Amino acid sequence: METMNRTVTCGALRAADAGTTVILNGWVHRKRDHGGISFINLRDRYGLTQVVVDSDAPADLADLAADLRMEFCIAVEGTVRLRPDSMKNPDMPTGEVEVVAKTVKILSRSEVPPFVIDEKTNASEELRLKYRYLDLRSDTMQRHLALRSRVAYAVREFLVKRDFLEIETPTFIKSTPEGARDYLVPSRLYPGKFYALPQSPQLYKQILMVSGFDRYFQIARCYRDEDARGDRQPEFTQIDLEMSFVSRDDVLSLIEGMMGHVFRETMKIELPATFTRLSWEDAMNRYGTDKPDLRFDLEMQDGAALAEKGTFQAFKDALAAGGAVKALVVPGAAATTSRKNIDELEGAAKIFKARGLGWMKVAEGEAGKPALEGGISKFFEGKADEVCSELGAKPGDLLLFVADAKHRVACTALGAVRSKLGKDLNLIKEGTFAFAWIIDFPLFEWNEEEEKWDAAHHMFSWPQEQYHETLESDPGSVKGDLYDLVLNGYELASGSIRIHDPELQKRIFRIVGFSEEEAAEKFGFLTEAFKYGAPPHGGIAPGLDRLVMLMAGETSIKEVIAFPKNSFAQSLMDDCPSEVDSKQLVDLHINIVN
Ligand code: AMO
Repeated sequence: METMNRTVTCGALRAADAGTTVILNGWVHRKRDHGGISFINLRDRYGLTQVVVDSDAPADLADLAADLRMEFCIAVEGTVRLRPDSMKNPDMPTGEVEVVAKTVKILSRSEVPPFVIDEKTNASEELRLKYRYLDLRSDTMQRHLALRSRVAYAVREFLVKRDFLEIETPTFIKSTPEGARDYLVPSRLYPGKFYALPQSPQLYKQILMVSGFDRYFQIARCYRDEDARGDRQPEFTQIDLEMSFVSRDDVLSLIEGMMGHVFRETMKIELPATFTRLSWEDAMNRYGTDKPDLRFDLEMQDGAALAEKGTFQAFKDALAAGGAVKALVVPGAAATTSRKNIDELEGAAKIFKARGLGWMKVAEGEAGKPALEGGISKFFEGKADEVCSELGAKPGDLLLFVADAKHRVACTALGAVRSKLGKDLNLIKEGTFAFAWIIDFPLFEWNEEEEKWDAAHHMFSWPQEQYHETLESDPGSVKGDLYDLVLNGYELASGSIRIHDPELQKRIFRIVGFSEEEAAEKFGFLTEAFKYGAPPHGGIAPGLDRLVMLMAGETSIKEVIAFPKNSFAQSLMDDCPSEVDSKQLVDLHINIVN
């Protein structure tokens, strides 16, 4: 049989091609019949081309055209012709031409698809994931996966040029506590023993440094059994890298260069050569989060000085208990913010454990002086001038406050209000990218439930030199050489300079509650390796899914992953996880207990 393999793609034809004979392969995107003429929009990865079966077409061709339905996969041979001026479509790259079909061949028929393939589908997520192969045919998903591929390529290009080696590390590893729950793989050969899927290649990349591969990277699949969110999946991909003989600033500037290259190559966007740096403490104090969205200003202020200016007991109590009063001035928002809006903002603050949200509006008083109205203004009678000059507020502004006995609660709760305002007041300029480094994180975090210190990032991060003496006596104030890269309010990457001294590593294990035996059991191979001339080293791991999600302007990483899991860690397309044969279970020495 005559093959009808394409000679051009569906995105290729232009006016200059008029008169040529071509073969197109693709899917029937839409079909319209007009007075005996069939117009078929033929689609492939590269675009859409209009195919016409003219009214004077031979009967067999006309019959075939009549038989075509959405999503049939077909081949068309025909002649390119210019469309009449009135029929030109400037929105389509191929919109000046059409292909007059001479032969059409159905390569494969399609059942009526469960949803129409469109640029943006309105099908439910469940349907999209069940029929992912159809969902992926949409222009949007095709663009997202193409972007993802280009980003990965640009990353490789950048790193390889700078002497990085791409080295794969195993995906069956020893289960080590790394933050989230492990996915486990039972061993057939060793009853009762398990491999774990890596939460990240962390330990292997450090060991590669011991082996002398001083610049490593890997586009690495990671697995974590944790609750799904928009920016989380049970399996996801990191651009994982590690370097020897470097300090923090070397890692940061490498990543600034890499992001610059990626945005330039894939989106023609020029990023700033360096990114803003904020200490963790500043980020918490000014934005109430360690992943601030810096696409809009709206900075929180310290409102402690207001406590003594007024009579509001909640402010005084918070400070007396060693806590904080945090304040936010929302310029020009007094008139447009209703009671209902304030209640909603208070809801956001309460999620972060605030008792409430204090508010006042600054109005125009006598002789152009400011006056305070509503909310807690009765506690600041006659103090409008002082309050406004303290906060830099003016008539028309809305003032918001969270006071709490815990400094952290006051910051995070008002930070959540700030984030909500960013969205509600449309302060965010879409299509912009605001990167920032968060540095000087605390090394340890107090775990209230278990009443112990945990590693804030992981246990291998380097405590800054000036804290080495006081690690045990004052863990809470130890800052680590840890850094996060933040983009548009998301944590895009985390990394640190690592501990390369086995003794220091042991001290950290002890502080987070690992006994000597336990540490040897879980991480002995790492401390053992460090006995043999471990180089100073550090690294970082940007999440590829999150990066591409943000570049694509999406809010869920599912939109940039070909076959993601749903929010319940299931793959609806192939129905996984699924039961397995009892024989498989027997082989694995597993007994299911219901
Ligand atoms: P961390 O655990 O912070 O660090 O992860 C680094 C980056 O990986 C991405 N990420 C995720 N993306 C999607 N779904 C998830 N469940 C998920 N979890 C994390 C984020 C995050 O910033 N080994 C260290 C890195 C290092 O120190 O070099 C690590 O894994 O973008």
